[in-house]
Amino acid sequence: MINTNLAGKKNICLVGFMFSGKTSIGTMLAKSLKYKFIDTDFEIEKENYLRIRDIFDCFGEGLFRELEHKKIVEMCNKQKQILSIGGGAFCFDRNIEVIKEKCIVFYLNASFETIMSRTTEKGLEKRPLFNDLKKAEEMFKSRQKFYLKADFVINTDNKELKVVKKEIKNILKTLNKR
Ligand code: S3P
Repeated sequence: MINTNLAGKKNICLVGFMFSGKTSIGTMLAKSLKYKFIDTDFEIEKENYLRIRDIFDCFGEGLFRELEHKKIVEMCNKQKQILSIGGGAFCFDRNIEVIKEKCIVFYLNASFETIMSRTTEKGLEKRPLFNDLKKAEEMFKSRQKFYLKADFVINTDNKELKVVKKEIKNILKTLNKR
């Protein structure tokens, strides 16, 4: 049994760009660790009866970032959860602060080529900030400095999901032996 209550950190948070695999890896990890999987975007949609794209279109990114921050604070204060947060969330100091305080943070790193190869029509439809490819690539580059504030960087290029999951589990095991 993995005890992730390391230095008071009771949750695990997965960060990374859109299409980096946070939901897929998070779901698998939660199952295997018997933790609860939480996707903050999903929670925001459910609570507000609106899709993320509609929140962006009708109220703007500013309101979305407020809802996102509130949800992150709420979720971080629980325990035994795997949090998957939207690709922009870990780029704001107020989120980084609470997440780093309460979670062990893994950055699911992938090259922009890999990210591109993982896009689907349905996935793109859901993501208002991936409308323009050039802008998305610039955003990808400018966000790296924030993602690198994670506790661990996991490279996911050319790796199967189960391999990534295993790498994360191995790190958690090693941390527990300390
Ligand atoms: C965003 C990423 C999305 C979602 C919103 C904004 C971003 O989540 O939160 O569209 O700023 O990168 P995913 O990373 O799960 O796609």
